Amino acid sequence: MTATILDGKELAHQMQADLAVEVAEFIENNSVFPRLDVVLIGDNAASEVYVRNKRQACERAGIDGHLHRLPAGVSIEEMLALVHKLNKDPDVHGILVQLPLPSGLDPARVLQAVNPLKDVDAFHPENVGLLVQGRPRFVPCTPHGIVELLKRRSVPIAGRHVVILGRSDIVGKPLANLLLQRGTDATVTVCHSRTPDVGRLTRLADILVVAIGRPRFVTAEMVQPGAAVIDVGMNRTPEGLVGDVDFESVREVAGMITPVPGGVGPLTVTMLLHNTLVAARVQQP
Ligand code: GUN
Repeated sequence: MTATILDGKELAHQMQADLAVEVAEFIENNSVFPRLDVVLIGDNAASEVYVRNKRQACERAGIDGHLHRLPAGVSIEEMLALVHKLNKDPDVHGILVQLPLPSGLDPARVLQAVNPLKDVDAFHPENVGLLVQGRPRFVPCTPHGIVELLKRRSVPIAGRHVVILGRSDIVGKPLANLLLQRGTDATVTVCHSRTPDVGRLTRLADILVVAIGRPRFVTAEMVQPGAAVIDVGMNRTPEGLVGDVDFESVREVAGMITPVPGGVGPLTVTMLLHNTLVAARVQQP
């Protein structure tokens, strides 16, 4: 069997076209342009690419995108001063601080300073808490993109066993919370770098989500025949950009698989645009 490709790029284009219509209606009804401000510190090559993709997507959807660049050596006080300025600016609806931050800047302090109503990443403790309680204000972008991809491509989730490789605050932990919500009803196992014999657990997955940042870590013998495999990895290697899944071998075993690039990445950007519109809505008087 060769797996069906789950084309995130194509789905993202459809969803962004629908979103552009919603944004136009919002502007018409409120005479306000939804605005997203991205803060980029230092010169991380991967972050430069992500930020460029976000800007282009904002333009296509009719969202007003602004970029604030700070040097790698910026102090935490200067960083917080910018966040506070954006918090107070009524024209700014969404604030995104691109991660990772240069070493020396504590991400927890910075993310906690973002106004929770403008926190389109949903990384503020208040928004994390709301998600855990099953009443999210914003759903974190990558987990939301993964769940939308599964739902819109008719991959059953309720009652299925989802195994997540990786316990990051950006993907693994929020995805586990999202899938556990009533109404979504997955059974979830989260594995990480200290999990012994990880292949024994990944082979039990109906849906396997891989977000560990290790190129081609998941191989065919770690996958249950027919499983849906979602690859969140983006690893720059001498052979080019590769995921955390060994695509060529796993596609012969899996039922469905996301490619890298063109899988999860475009959906993350789409859900960021969605969250910016949600932020603009919640901030209307
Ligand atoms: N770096 C990698 N992924 C993300 C994300 O979803 N949000 C932010 N702010 N930074 C990231």
